[in-house]
Amino acid sequence: METKVPFLDLWSQHLPLMSELNLAIQEVIKSSAFAGGRFVNEFEQDFAAYCDARYALGVGSGTEALWLSLMACGVGSGDEVITVPTTFMATAEAITYAGARPVFVDVDERTYTMNPEALAGALTKNTKAIIPVHLFGQPADLDPILEFARRHSLYVIEDACQAHGAEYEGRRVGTFGDTACFSFYPGKNLGAFGEAGAIVTRHSDLQEKMKILRDHGQVRKYFHSVVGWNCRMDGIQAAVLRIKLRQLEANNQRRRTHAAHYEEELGQMEGIVTPALASYARHVYHIYAIRVANRDEVIKCLADQGIGTGIHYPVPVHLQEAYRHLGYRRGAFPVAERCASEFVSLPIYPELTDAQVEEVIQAVKAAIAENVEV
Ligand SMILES: Cc1ncc(COP(=O)(O)O)c(C=O)c1O
Repeated sequence: METKVPFLDLWSQHLPLMSELNLAIQEVIKSSAFAGGRFVNEFEQDFAAYCDARYALGVGSGTEALWLSLMACGVGSGDEVITVPTTFMATAEAITYAGARPVFVDVDERTYTMNPEALAGALTKNTKAIIPVHLFGQPADLDPILEFARRHSLYVIEDACQAHGAEYEGRRVGTFGDTACFSFYPGKNLGAFGEAGAIVTRHSDLQEKMKILRDHGQVRKYFHSVVGWNCRMDGIQAAVLRIKLRQLEANNQRRRTHAAHYEEELGQMEGIVTPALASYARHVYHIYAIRVANRDEVIKCLADQGIGTGIHYPVPVHLQEAYRHLGYRRGAFPVAERCASEFVSLPIYPELTDAQVEEVIQAVKAAIAENVEV
């Protein structure tokens, strides 16, 4: 079956911008500012302004943004960091790479983000920080998380890797935690031409530390005050992102329009759970994940009709083989585990036409009718 609606189509996003992007890349080549430098500084200013944040730092990836944040907050050996199992592996990986231990709490049944009520049960004398994840583009419920963190003197690092431009109670994500981490992996709402990420923060001391850490701990060339790493952003990525950032608001709005269309047509159907929109949220729908029983059959039926899908993510992080040593068992986090077995992500990128969204809707209806007992 020929693919009628691919899960993602980056070419259609870049085609209309080709001449602008080509010129921007040529500028970088002419100036040879390939690693850090002028283009990164300019993007940092634009991205900080977009997030309403005081500082933004361009780095090599979202994973590096998380790791640098933890390092700057002094998280290390013997510390514990609370996060969720319903996320991409990198959230927990960064905690491990900082030398600390990831401790998981379950997610909320409706929003699939951190359940603030579960935090008390995960707190120990070693807890140093919390990483809520704004999963799929919907902010976690930040007020109770921040309140808990204040009471127990914990850092809060927002994993905003999927949530560029999302808002909590009318304020941009990224401005709530001590730091917030963004990924510009190509398929993200704001995607680079390779790997890139950013950290935003309002704290000048953390910004200073992260700036040094991302550049081998150098205070000036070849003078290293601490052991850091190479986490610099490429000039070419910064130049590309600067152009694409101008489209982000319109693109997020288009994603919301598609989501509203899906909700209108699929929201009341039996046998399918569509994403809930929290009352506090401006969702940016990086991923539009429905939940269905018989997932494999539904995906196959959609593929047979030419519709691309994804699964984000098939195994919750606490059950990944890499984390077997943490000792979590199946059943530890029932909501996360149910989600992992039921999630199916539908195409949601801005370049989808209304007709393509309609095609997906009709295909989902047919797949549910065929495969799910209601
Ligand atoms: C929730 C979440 N955290 C962290 C990351 C890591 O970002 P990157 O792939 O840029 O390292 C991603 C990206 O896939 C993500 O979705």
